[in-house]
Amino acid sequence: MIRSICCIGAGYVGGPTMAVIADRCPGIQVTVVDLNAERIAAWNAPDLSQLPIYEPGLDALVGRARGRNLHFTTAVEAAIAGADMVFLSVNTPTKTKGVGAGQASDLRWIEASARQVAASAQGHTIVVEKSTLPVRTAETVQTILNAVPLSSVPGAEGKTFSVLSNPEFLAEGTAIADLQAPDRVLIGGEDPAAIEALAAIYGQWVPAERILRTNLWSSELSKLTANAFLAQRISSINAIAALCEATGADVGEVAKAIGADSRIGAKFLKAGPGFGGSCFQKDILNLVYLCGHYGLHEVAAYWQQVVALNRWQQQRIARLVVNRLFGTVSGKRIGVLGFAFKADTNDTRESPAIRICRDLLEEGAVLQIVDPKVSERQLAQDLGQPAGAGEGSWQQVAEVQQAASGADALVLLTEWQAFAEIDWAAVAAVMRRPAWLFDARAKADAAAARAAGLQVWRVGEGADD
Ligand code: UDX
Ligand code: UDX
Repeated sequence: MIRSICCIGAGYVGGPTMAVIADRCPGIQVTVVDLNAERIAAWNAPDLSQLPIYEPGLDALVGRARGRNLHFTTAVEAAIAGADMVFLSVNTPTKTKGVGAGQASDLRWIEASARQVAASAQGHTIVVEKSTLPVRTAETVQTILNAVPLSSVPGAEGKTFSVLSNPEFLAEGTAIADLQAPDRVLIGGEDPAAIEALAAIYGQWVPAERILRTNLWSSELSKLTANAFLAQRISSINAIAALCEATGADVGEVAKAIGADSRIGAKFLKAGPGFGGSCFQKDILNLVYLCGHYGLHEVAAYWQQVVALNRWQQQRIARLVVNRLFGTVSGKRIGVLGFAFKADTNDTRESPAIRICRDLLEEGAVLQIVDPKVSERQLAQDLGQPAGAGEGSWQQVAEVQQAASGADALVLLTEWQAFAEIDWAAVAAVMRRPAWLFDARAKADAAAARAAGLQVWRVGEGADD
């Protein structure tokens, strides 16, 4: 029976997951630790609007559980020592150098966390991999845990570990709803008692038939495969979107028609500026690396193409904007609607907006960026330059109206609901003519924008109108 949980990593995965566990399991003390003191301070902020990540419904959960059975601290050793179960939810970015650079995951944080657990744990501890990891990482974690020299550590007698894989399938923006009513919970492991201990936690709110048990490697590989399949659907529909634009078909209609086939299904068929987020690209590259490692070169090339198509889609949109604006955007004002990688999050990791905005800045555009949740600090980091003025500069603005002011074009990159409700007559009045709307999400009311005098390009919409 688990009474105390420690989660290492207070990020987009660790934070919401632990908030939901604490909320659903009042009998369990949940402590979330992180090396980053600023992040922990933000999780402890009295004002719940200051939490470090934005997720609908998260503030209410944290408000209810924090201080009761949900704690945020930098005191890692003490939290591990007091825990029956430790979740590893640290980041695993793609390696930038060394063997596997550009494909393999950098496991240094996982290794560091496993060493911390090995050093500080007491008695029997169940270690749960929550981070997305290459297949067979559990083996590495187990090896590190078992390497503790029992005689050298006080209290090491009787120190034992079980490693489980429990990948997270939440999507940002709907994380709380996904955690509260998951399609499935996946638990991979070899130790039946440990598996049942974790299953009992989820069993507090997840129906038993949705809790799947597999071996460790199947669990690890399922996570990579799920993300690869989802990303592949997006590259597939984006590929068809380009063909729709060329032929006069409408990708929205095509998506509806094919989605009505129950074997295909209607979800994840929205054409856009390409997928972003911390997981899809990283996980596919991981899969590619794994396939290469095992000599499966055709399989690796197959998945690599999903990423290649995604990059092409992002480049294509920036080029298209430049082309329509008479081949040059130098010194021209362009309003950018949305910067987060999807709506309802402040996360910009791998956001298509980064590549598209950088390309436009490179061409000399003056960007006026509006996003309801992304901070100016984040924009500066992602764009590699501070806010400024003049050719090849950007500024953050608070309203769509300001983004449109004096602009030749608006480029819609994130599907925030507010962008579906724009007053196009008011916006058109402050833009320079001819004025354009480039809607990379097919989110805006194109008919209203056209009625207000804008020229509209919409992803996947044939040009026969
Ligand atoms: C991350 C990975 O990106 C994802 O693949 C995995 O499934 C879960 O972990 P996320 O929660 O979105 O997802 O990452 P991030 O928001 O970067 O949070 C990780 C946190 O771990 C950071 O706050 C970081 O400071 C912390 N960390 C990292 C530690 O506390 N200790 C470490 O040794 C390393
Ligand atoms: C994804 C997986 O959905 C989740 O199960 C896993 O745990 C982590 O990775 P996330 O990246 O948070 O979640 O968001 P998701 O909703 O999957 O969107 C990823 C990207 O695909 C976004 O940039 C989104 O805008 C884009 N997308 C999604 C499309 O372009 N079209 C679609 O139809 C769906």
